[in-house]
Amino acid sequence: MGSGLEGLEGRVALVTGAARERSIGRGIALALAERGADVAVNDLAHEDEASRRVGELEALGRRSVFIRADLADPHECERLVAETVTRLGRLDIFCANAGVADWQELVEVTPEALRRIVGVNLHGCFFGCRAAAAQMRRQCTGGRIVVTSSVNAVMPFPKLGIYGATKHAVAHLVGVMAREWAPDAITVNHVAPGWVDSNINDRSPDFATEALRAVARAGIPLGHRPSEPREIGEAVAYFSLEGAAHTTGAFLRVDGGSVIGKY
Ligand SMILES: NC(=O)c1ccc[n+]([C@@H]2O[C@H](COP(=O)([O-])OP(=O)(O)OC[C@H]3O[C@@H](n4cnc5c(N)ncnc54)[C@H](O)[C@@H]3O)[C@@H](O)[C@H]2O)c1
Repeated sequence: MGSGLEGLEGRVALVTGAARERSIGRGIALALAERGADVAVNDLAHEDEASRRVGELEALGRRSVFIRADLADPHECERLVAETVTRLGRLDIFCANAGVADWQELVEVTPEALRRIVGVNLHGCFFGCRAAAAQMRRQCTGGRIVVTSSVNAVMPFPKLGIYGATKHAVAHLVGVMAREWAPDAITVNHVAPGWVDSNINDRSPDFATEALRAVARAGIPLGHRPSEPREIGEAVAYFSLEGAAHTTGAFLRVDGGSVIGKY
């Protein structure tokens, strides 16, 4: 990448699944923009919230665009990257962040639910990363790919079997992408949140009542609270900075220590 030592000035980032107010994607977009990056915000829906995201990133003095695309469709992944380049000029940082979850025991999982979760979390992540890497390769200046993983990648949680399986599969892919794309100076790392109070958890049975939330908070050694989206964003920013040029294939948990010693 360029010659900057600390900041991300002049870099262009694309963050998937970043339209919503309470999302991890928003935390990532803000952390990158505050370091100087222009940011393309992607989502499947939520146009109103997305226009507020673009507004708040522009208020930081950055260029920002919203690009609607369904990552479950590989052609849409290609179009998303191409449109980012058309509108913002290049692509240096790709954050494969969009994800979906369903809470079901394995005996209840339907083929449709499985296809939906695998389609976004595994296919979408893979085809998105591959399209981004192809663009970075064309630019010949390296690049950074950061995947939003989960503690579910390493810990089996009941009712989240298919979700966890996709994150586990993505963890394997991150390692292979990191090795195969190292010759092009493209790093691939993943950040693993534990519990963030974002939209995805609104349907979670684990946080459905205040009593359950209190139990969940008690299980987090650091501060007895969920992580903030911005705290995930800071980890993504680290992997995007010049100082992380020699870090690839790394798995960084940002979970307040919730799974220490449990796997
Ligand atoms: N919140 C947590 O506790 C937690 C924990 C571990 C990992 N994660 C991961 O963090 C990532 C971000 O999730 P979040 O917590 O911010 O939830 P969120 O629901 O707020 O954000 C996810 C976004 O992805 C978008 N999306 C879904 N399908 C899409 C598609 N096909 N194409 C484009 N966008 C699509 C959604 O519209 C949504 O805006 C996910 O990968 C999730 O698995 C979240």
